[in-house]
Amino acid sequence: MQNRVRGTLISFEGIDGSGKSTQIELIKKYLHKNKKKVLFTREPGGTLEAELIRKLLLSKNKKIKFDNKTEILLLLAARYEHYKKLIEPAITNGKIIICDRFIDSTLAYQCTGNNELKEFYFQISKPLINNFVPDLTILLDISPTKALERINKRKNKNKYDNKNLSFFSNVRKGYNELAKNNSRIQKLNALNDKSILAEKIRKLIFNLLK
Ligand SMILES: Nc1ncnc2c1ncn2[C@@H]1O[C@H](COP(=O)(O)OP(=O)(O)O)[C@@H](O)[C@H]1O
Ligand SMILES: [Mg+2]
Repeated sequence: MQNRVRGTLISFEGIDGSGKSTQIELIKKYLHKNKKKVLFTREPGGTLEAELIRKLLLSKNKKIKFDNKTEILLLLAARYEHYKKLIEPAITNGKIIICDRFIDSTLAYQCTGNNELKEFYFQISKPLINNFVPDLTILLDISPTKALERINKRKNKNKYDNKNLSFFSNVRKGYNELAKNNSRIQKLNALNDKSILAEKIRKLIFNLLK
């Protein structure tokens, strides 16, 4: 029997405008230059089917407002497609995966301050991904005011970008609680210069992979 090493999943988290896409692009360029093979993906999405669910979730039609539990169910449906078809096989094959948003996004955005929703999330999630968690999570921490300043300069806004400051303050609080309770989560100050952050992130990833 072949003795394979289990793969690694690294997730990037933080409120909209915190700089996730920017940092993922920088690490992608760096790894490519160094001929390291890494699988880049995102949530909600990552497979054809999950990207279809993403479209429903990020619909720009203002009349569409899913109930909180429906939103969690859709996010978990997308996660299951992504996990079953892409993440789990890749992990089994020893691959390194970098994911733009993962479980902590659902907890921070959909469940912060609401224990009923949190319980609902864990109940549904458990039989789907069986307590699977990332090996490392980079949390880019930023105040909603600063993040919104960045977003307002950005052209392609999505549904989440238009929510108000108190919503994002609540999400940030949720992320910070998660960081306090999970040692896999490394919180970085997202106000740092892009290149300084990139250097810190490279170090965290290399420490994990060495
Ligand atoms: N460290 C940084 N300092 C200043 N601006 C940044 C920094 N990181 C990202 N930005 C800018 O902020 C905006 C949002 O960044 P982005 O990477 O798209 O965030 P996210 O993917 O978390 O929503 C972009 O216009 C980006 O150029
Ligand atoms: Mg992004």
